[in-house]
Amino acid sequence: MSEHGISNLSREDRVFEPPAELAAQANVTADVYDRAAQDRLGFWADAAHRLTWGTDFEEVLDWTNPPFARWFVGGRLNVAYNCVDRHVEAGRGDKVAIHFVGEPGDTRDLTYAELKDEVSKAANAITELGVQAGDRIAIYMPMIPEAVIAMLASARVGAVHTVVFGGFSSDALASRVEDCEAKLVITADGGYRRGKPSSLKPAVDEALAKLGDASPVEHVLVVRRTGRSEEGDEVDVTEGRDVWWHDVVDAASTEHAYTEFDSEHPLFVMYTSGTTGKPKGILHTSAGYLTQAAYTFWATFDHKDDDVYWCTADVGWITGHSYITYGPTANGATQVLYEGTPDTPHKGRWWEIIADKKVSLFYTAPTAIRTCMKWGEQIPAEHDLSSLRVLGTVGESINPEAYVWYRENIGGGSAPIVDTWWQTETGAHMITPLPGVTAAKPGSAMTAFPGVSAEVVDDAGEPVGNGEGGYLVITEPWPSMLRTIWGDDDRYVDTYWSRFKAQGYYFAGDGAKKDDDGAIWLLGRVDDVMNVSGHRLSTTEIESALVSHPKVAEAAVVGAADETTGQAVCAFVILRESAGDGGEDVVAELRNHVGKEIGPIAKPRQVMVVPELPKTRSGKIMRRLLRDVAENREVGDATTLADSSVMDLITAGMSGAKADDD
Ligand code: WTA
Repeated sequence: MSEHGISNLSREDRVFEPPAELAAQANVTADVYDRAAQDRLGFWADAAHRLTWGTDFEEVLDWTNPPFARWFVGGRLNVAYNCVDRHVEAGRGDKVAIHFVGEPGDTRDLTYAELKDEVSKAANAITELGVQAGDRIAIYMPMIPEAVIAMLASARVGAVHTVVFGGFSSDALASRVEDCEAKLVITADGGYRRGKPSSLKPAVDEALAKLGDASPVEHVLVVRRTGRSEEGDEVDVTEGRDVWWHDVVDAASTEHAYTEFDSEHPLFVMYTSGTTGKPKGILHTSAGYLTQAAYTFWATFDHKDDDVYWCTADVGWITGHSYITYGPTANGATQVLYEGTPDTPHKGRWWEIIADKKVSLFYTAPTAIRTCMKWGEQIPAEHDLSSLRVLGTVGESINPEAYVWYRENIGGGSAPIVDTWWQTETGAHMITPLPGVTAAKPGSAMTAFPGVSAEVVDDAGEPVGNGEGGYLVITEPWPSMLRTIWGDDDRYVDTYWSRFKAQGYYFAGDGAKKDDDGAIWLLGRVDDVMNVSGHRLSTTEIESALVSHPKVAEAAVVGAADETTGQAVCAFVILRESAGDGGEDVVAELRNHVGKEIGPIAKPRQVMVVPELPKTRSGKIMRRLLRDVAENREVGDATTLADSSVMDLITAGMSGAKADDD
């Protein structure tokens, strides 16, 4: 048991070697780690030189004013040129950039040549609407090609986009528009979700009405996607402010003379929720961000020219920025873009798309995998998934059982899984296996990416030994690091650089442990760590133990106040459909299972069988709300929940009982 950090409880002995054929042809081989370790800055300079520069940089990193970094100092490039034009110039204009699949079943393929035309037209149109380099654009869109086009057009003219997830409310949109003073909003009338149109434009109208005279927005550019609102009405158009995409973009010229911008020119602001108060606008800049997004895409997924890639994230999250809009296009990749939900019109929709488009690289979230586990393996089994050769996950730790399920049922028992740890703030992959190099352990993100320096430290900032847990820190700056919080340098320093100020480490907010081989296992947010009888237990390990029981599909664990132990472990579980109601003794069975897998200390005081778990729209479990339930409090602010009725379901439908003490 670790004295200074978080306990290391679970053991996992399975290891999956990289497939020999993949390893033999892998983009990145083991020697790259050595090269990067010997000359970190030289390694990143090489990665940067995979991009096309107008003016080469003079210095790789200026870290004279930490924690404010400047990467690739003196260089100039255009991000959109790198993502689009250069592939056309290289004679690859006919290659498909985007296979769009609409939820109703409509499809549209865009080649790189067509993408170049669309981005150029959009760049001309937004310039015509008054947007200049440095201005902010809010993008509030469904998952349609115009979302990617809008982002790239913004980058092309040197504007700064802030994409607001289409599932967010008008309040969230208003606060972001206000915080970054967006001049233009790009939106759509709506998109298709769960088989019907879901409106977006009315939320824009509401947000701008709320801001009233203080609204910085001059124009709203509207894509026609659904042609009508949820209620079947015509879309409201505010004369003089709103313009239709098909009027102004379609009419614009396909010739757009771009200019190059400084390496540190702001590229986008991505808002992420803070622990308190107003969301933080994470600022990413141009060249460093694109370097790491592009290089990691190529390395982590082993991207080859004939691959078909699909990331199921929304462009409203950082994953959609780095691994839909920027990383893949910077590599000239072909990708699938899917508008809708995985179960519309049936639960095999994703697998059907993979079979149809022959997807070879697939990137999704553990929460989605567990949902598919709950539905059962007979659903993917109906589709030909043999094109898949690398699978990825992001967003939270993948429980070993979900990992093995993913590998067996989606990856045909052979596709390597890359469990990628990173954050909105880090911009790109930081800790991950590499598919041609790493012998991967299910549940572990394994090792820092080449050129990234990660460590697990104790309270005093000293590295923990193998087999011990602590805090995950990044000890050296990296190219795609956030540069600041928009308009709030002090908050940037306080939030990320004050916990280990003396050492100058970036603190990510996550707990982690090193196993006996030094591999890194993420243990969840340190805010969620439980303290049971003086032992600091991570949520992740107990959740994984629960998911390893054959009746369980998903689990969330929280600490609730307890008179004797300080905090007690309370577990919420969703059963697999094949388990029915779990049977009479399911609670005792699961408690004993955890006791056996981890030890008596981790045995939940309560196990509650629930139909759903409260999740944010990006799929993260909101443990704070479950703590309220576990402590019999009124449930707190649930506005960021994906489905606000979930908490009622949970409080009404709990079928678990309090266990006897033992
Ligand atoms: C968690 C998503 C374990 C972690 C790119 C991190 C993970 C937060 C993993 C960032 C992973 C992400 N294993 N935990 N592979 N990937 N996380 O900003 O807690 O939406 O700090 O970025 O997600 O979430 P964000």
